Amino acid sequence: MNIIHISAECYPVAKVGGLADVVGALPKYQNNADTLSQVIMPFYDVNFTRENDFTPIFESKLDLGDEQYSFKILKLKENRLDFDIFFVDVPELVFKDYVYSLDDTKRFMAFQIAALDWMLKWETLPEIIHCHDHHTGLTPFMLQECHKYEAFRKIPNILTIHNAQYQGWFSHDNVNLIPSFNFNNVGLLDWGGQINPLAAAIKCAWRVTTVSPSYMEELKTHANGLESLLADESAKCVGILNGIDTRVWNPETDDYIVKNYSDKTIVSGKKANKKYLCDTFNLDSSKPLFSFIGRLVGEKGSDLFPETFKIALQNPNISILLLGSGNKDTETQLEALKETFQGRYNAYIGYDEKLSHIIYAGADFLLMPSRVEPCGLNQMYSLRYGTIPIVRSIGGLKDTVIDISNPNGFGICHNNVTIDEITNAIGRGAQLYENQNDFKAIRTKIMKIDHSWDASAKQYINLYKSIN
Ligand code: ADP
Ligand code: GLC
Repeated sequence: MNIIHISAECYPVAKVGGLADVVGALPKYQNNADTLSQVIMPFYDVNFTRENDFTPIFESKLDLGDEQYSFKILKLKENRLDFDIFFVDVPELVFKDYVYSLDDTKRFMAFQIAALDWMLKWETLPEIIHCHDHHTGLTPFMLQECHKYEAFRKIPNILTIHNAQYQGWFSHDNVNLIPSFNFNNVGLLDWGGQINPLAAAIKCAWRVTTVSPSYMEELKTHANGLESLLADESAKCVGILNGIDTRVWNPETDDYIVKNYSDKTIVSGKKANKKYLCDTFNLDSSKPLFSFIGRLVGEKGSDLFPETFKIALQNPNISILLLGSGNKDTETQLEALKETFQGRYNAYIGYDEKLSHIIYAGADFLLMPSRVEPCGLNQMYSLRYGTIPIVRSIGGLKDTVIDISNPNGFGICHNNVTIDEITNAIGRGAQLYENQNDFKAIRTKIMKIDHSWDASAKQYINLYKSIN
């Protein structure tokens, strides 16, 4: 089976969040003797594209409304990824900026058109076209409706919703950006009076998946306006829990961390990583270290951190370290706290892949008080590195973390995103840390939980087969 994933992000090329991790891992786990799984993404101006060589394999022009743009399809020359990856280079549009920018409608439209124009020229067409999120949401519509893509009509396509909050809305005034189609069907593009790429994909894709079973359920009542659409289309919707790439996220081999470790050497391994973090960020390594890694946005509950940390840090026996960026107001408040709680709290405001790995390895607890969490990868990375997750039970967090009050529990869960509940959960973590026997037993146990992609990659393959 020949599968192509179309995505705006892919690790290690360009990563803003978990979408990149998924698209950079799933194809690896799908590739085997019977399956060829490949990726196509935009060619951005990022370190990866500056540091690697690419061969042009296709060149053409695409029409975008009244404008015409030259584009190339590039292939990575020395590919050390475990799957083939192709790039759409539209120098005038896509290469101009980092992953997301203000004129995304045109950029992602051009990306999708170029990808399909190129695929039309394949000797054998792909057998599955797998789209990810709204950036590629007009692809299922174009495959079904655009005259020039007639040849794709029988090719099954899938949409995976990684996050339904973002839908890629744009005005009907720009409908001419889409290649010509039977205008009687323009309604397929519409949701609430706008062109809504995510809604169009939910209507047109052969199957719709989202990244955890619980999130699929939650979308029926909370889908940023798409609830009734998802209810109507529920027969073709399924939740498949993300996995993690254990070739990248493995404390035994991870090159980013200070000292490698397994479940057998967890005590010394975590100690060395924690010491590095505490030395670097001026924290006391004898205290339990609570961390957060992520985008500072409402969905992650991070706006509550400044107040929550002020209260939680009244307990002199804990330390907090945060890595993230996003909302400017939250960033400023989190920076300001450094002064007040010197030696107890620190934050790196920015994006740092290496530091994130060291935090997963060196922290004792990882905070995820998310308001919305379609899957969440951080909690699975933290489990793998023996760091106890403290999560709000929602979406994928609900599907992957069981509270320690249960006989087989291993994490700390709370039900609501409030300052009280987060502070209380941190308090429960501090208490658990005091009981070093229980604490260490849980750490060792969670390292062995298998969240690798093996099982979920098979679920996707079965889904493809069911429509092929
Ligand atoms: P989301 O995709 O909603 O941001 P996920 O939990 O699925 O959330 O994935 C987040 C990914 O991005 C993880 O790999 C996490 O380690 C990484 N990440 C988020 N913020 C940062 C940051 N500031 N520095 C380094 N890595 C980060
Ligand atoms: C989105 C979601 C996150 C999920 C990731 C990968 O960014 O917010 O919960 O883990 O996609 O599917």
